Amino acid sequence: MDLDTRYPSLADLAARARARLPRFVWEYLEAGTGAEEARARTRAAFERVTVLPSILHGDITPDLSVQLLGSTLPLPFGMAPVGMAGLVWPDAERHLARAARKLDLPYTLSTVASQTPEAVGPLAGDHAWFQMYPPRDPEIRADMLRRARKSGFRVLVLTADVPVASRRERQLRSGLTQPPRLTPRLLAQIAARPAWALAMARTGMPRMRLIDDYAPDTKGLPSTAHAGYLLRTSPDAAYLHWLRDHWDGPLIVKGVLDMRDVPRLENAGVDALWISNHGGRQFDAAPAPLSVLPRIRDATRLPLILDGGITGGLDILRAIALGADFVMLGRAWHHALAALGTRGPYHLAEILRRDLEANMGQMGLSRVRDVRDRLAPHPTG
Ligand SMILES: Cc1cc2nc3c(=O)[nH]c(=O)nc-3n(C[C@H](O)[C@H](O)[C@H](O)COP(=O)(O)O)c2cc1C
Repeated sequence: MDLDTRYPSLADLAARARARLPRFVWEYLEAGTGAEEARARTRAAFERVTVLPSILHGDITPDLSVQLLGSTLPLPFGMAPVGMAGLVWPDAERHLARAARKLDLPYTLSTVASQTPEAVGPLAGDHAWFQMYPPRDPEIRADMLRRARKSGFRVLVLTADVPVASRRERQLRSGLTQPPRLTPRLLAQIAARPAWALAMARTGMPRMRLIDDYAPDTKGLPSTAHAGYLLRTSPDAAYLHWLRDHWDGPLIVKGVLDMRDVPRLENAGVDALWISNHGGRQFDAAPAPLSVLPRIRDATRLPLILDGGITGGLDILRAIALGADFVMLGRAWHHALAALGTRGPYHLAEILRRDLEANMGQMGLSRVRDVRDRLAPHPTG
């Protein structure tokens, strides 16, 4: 049986990943915060968006390419940053960066990745984005920017929606500690998942390698414990202006949900806004990114990127219909990798591509953006 038959949808890849990952790893990847209402709301918002099919439109050839930040991208989606991705699958960052390069998609490396910018940037190709959690220390900040730029990252993403740590109760229940400690409970979970255990035995347990490099500057705090001290800050407008002055490529702010923030982001010279509630992991009363998108679209001409809860090509079209220019997926790439190894990301991209084409065919669209003309009135009866 081929991949298309066994894993025709993102849900199939997630189910296979779940069967292959130790429980604490699955819970790390999946957990939202609190009662996971934000996560549920994020997903449910897509189901309410209806777009009109078209009849009598003749033959069309769908063109999936889009323009973003001065580049033409062949597909309207990319890879969102996921911290400690190496815990999900060994060397996840490098596998995904290579796939992004081959597929010509943006790949976003997290500050708290398990690989350094130097190890990933050269693999990621033309669309290497570096996601920054804002270091307190100006020297560390400048050094990170310098390292990211030297490693080939062209776009800087400032994640602004982690002003404080969030509680992820599901993750706590699974026995995963910060930093991870191999307790008997975790070892039992690992023993039940031999594929993951064997793959991990070859690479060793992952660490936050970029952050580790700054450990001596944080007064010797142990291992990953210093990540919180270093990075969990709430930057202000002056911080954003500083970043603008010190980064000569496109600058994106991630975690925008409130249209009232738009003027100060525009004033700071930001090049695009990334509408996100961090996959429901930070604040459980946060709205669905999709539900705030139309108002933010009305408030700015800046490119808008959206993430959270995307489960197929149709969701990508729904987001674009409501005003997004581009979408990102986080967990799904990691499901694909855990499910199928290095073939996984290609299969996922193929599922999305075919789903986009099939749904564009239903609507008679030759260009992705034309979906904005097919938005159906909200179904009120
Ligand atoms: C396990 C995990 C780790 C994440 N780590 C980061 C991170 O380091 N930096 C960041 O900006 N966002 C991080 N995110 C949020 C993602 O970039 C993205 O906003 C979110 O996953 C999108 O939702 P989706 O997973 O439903 O596609 C993380 C998400 C997950 C699931």
